[in-house]
Amino acid sequence: MALLKLDKVTKFFGDFKAVDNVSLDIERGEFFVLLGKSGSGKTTILRLIAGLEKVSSGKIFIDGEDVTDLPPNKRDVGMVFQNYALYPNKTVRENLLVPLENSKMKKEDKEALIQDIAKNLEISQLLDRYPSQLSGGQQQRVAIAKALVKRPKVMLMDEPLSNLDAQLRLSARRFIKKVQREYNITTVYVTHDQSEALAMADRIGVIDKGMLLQVGEPEDVYYNPMNERVASIVGNPPMSFVNIDGKKVGVRPEDVILGDGPYKALVSDCEFWGSYYLVYLDYNGSELKAFSSKRVKEGSDINFRIVSYREF
Ligand SMILES: Nc1ncnc2c1ncn2[C@@H]1O[C@H](COP(=O)(O)OP(=O)(O)OP(=O)(O)O)[C@@H](O)[C@H]1O
Ligand SMILES: [Mg+2]
Repeated sequence: MALLKLDKVTKFFGDFKAVDNVSLDIERGEFFVLLGKSGSGKTTILRLIAGLEKVSSGKIFIDGEDVTDLPPNKRDVGMVFQNYALYPNKTVRENLLVPLENSKMKKEDKEALIQDIAKNLEISQLLDRYPSQLSGGQQQRVAIAKALVKRPKVMLMDEPLSNLDAQLRLSARRFIKKVQREYNITTVYVTHDQSEALAMADRIGVIDKGMLLQVGEPEDVYYNPMNERVASIVGNPPMSFVNIDGKKVGVRPEDVILGDGPYKALVSDCEFWGSYYLVYLDYNGSELKAFSSKRVKEGSDINFRIVSYREF
């Protein structure tokens, strides 16, 4: 059986359905990413798994055990929130000891465990500092360490990188993946950032309006989105939807080749994205996005071809 199983889980807040009949099997050691727009129900799903919120219907199993009616502290789940709560008047080491307060572990074993996790997250030098003496990225790594010290069966992470700048986010991704692999902790990671999801996940679950639309490996979700809703969530920028040869199709920007080809469009905008340009085309009144290695002139006509598209 999967390590974490959601069976037809639904959650109402009053008459608003925030989570709609979600079934999901997450395997032991898997890094599973829930991807969806703001308000799609991601945090609610994590809170249901953690036991911080009660399901309206459906069941949740962890390692074969029905935990649907168990309180949070009986579920063996660790959670990292978007606003990582560290105790300001405790040092990093003291913060990391808090989750072990009721543990029967010997003092030296606790210290050894903290040293090991701290080493993995590169916070060994910071153990005697207070949270206010740490950068945002360091605080965030301490919060992850804190969720890890209890070695939970399931780790839940709710947009843990959203407070960090772009560069720190990149390095923090690597830390999270590294410790997740090192301790083989089954993880559900929530983000609205499709590039983060594609980069980090073993599998992605795409969620919209409380419904789980598609579950698959990153390449699968990217190249074979099940419908337009998924296609509009995954990809930066997302697919364009245009009428080509009488069919309304989804086209990824890298599949539009500018310069020659059977179709003609008007260049409405051209943005420099660093290693390439993103070109906005007006094709028979629809917007079509294309990548280009060269700048093209706004207002000019351009020919193009399409190497691949997806019909819905
Ligand atoms: N306690 C609550 N009472 C009423 N409605 C709620 C409650 N918690 C969440 N909701 C609603 O449920 C929906 C899903 O909320 P949720 O926090 O799960 O979204 P999310 O995907 O995590 O969004 P974000 O990316 O903005 O964090 C939203 O429409 C939200 O307003
Ligand atoms: Mg949320």
